[in-house]
Amino acid sequence: SVAPRRPEDVATAWAALRDDAMGCTRCSLHGPATQTVFGEGPIDAPLMFVGEQPGDQEDLAGQPFVGPAGQLFDAALAQAGVDRSRAYVTNAVKHFKFERQGKRRLHQSPDAGEIQACRWWLKQEIALVRPRLIVALGASAARAMLGKAVTIGATRGTPIPLSDGAEGWVTVHPSYLLRLPDAARRAEEQARFVAELRMVGERL
Ligand code: URA
Repeated sequence: SVAPRRPEDVATAWAALRDDAMGCTRCSLHGPATQTVFGEGPIDAPLMFVGEQPGDQEDLAGQPFVGPAGQLFDAALAQAGVDRSRAYVTNAVKHFKFERQGKRRLHQSPDAGEIQACRWWLKQEIALVRPRLIVALGASAARAMLGKAVTIGATRGTPIPLSDGAEGWVTVHPSYLLRLPDAARRAEEQARFVAELRMVGERL
């Protein structure tokens, strides 16, 4: 809906939503995870970023993108001239999914059912924040944003009209860049990521 709303009502609704999400049992990932990692940022942000799911450090901190992927993300945003403090940052899946290996907790990708279960929260976040632009970081986020599986290669670089009126963008996940073994390739892919973030920033 495009009805005007009072900012204080949106803030109250967001806080209630976040509280509800803290007790979420819509899928089984809440069991082993430390806590729900909900989205954060201005509730009237014109720009929303959607990641995949919290990682090890995010699970412990209770905040999205504060670990290694978050550091790369912050650096890329700075290079692109996009102010993270103006963006609402969230994840497709709000609990950390992992496999224990000794004392390490290794990231596991969420499956379609987990993304679908958690999409309920993302939709509420989008409905409250009403961003003009939504950027999906990686395939899980793109699936959550679009409601169907897509490939990054076929969808990146051009705006996708979303049903709620926002403009959707798809790009790579920062963890993908961290994992690229070849330095030259990594630099190239990183530059492309920054260029896409800059393109998005210019539409704000
Ligand atoms: N990767 C994500 O997709 N989200 C986070 O919050 C951290 C790492």
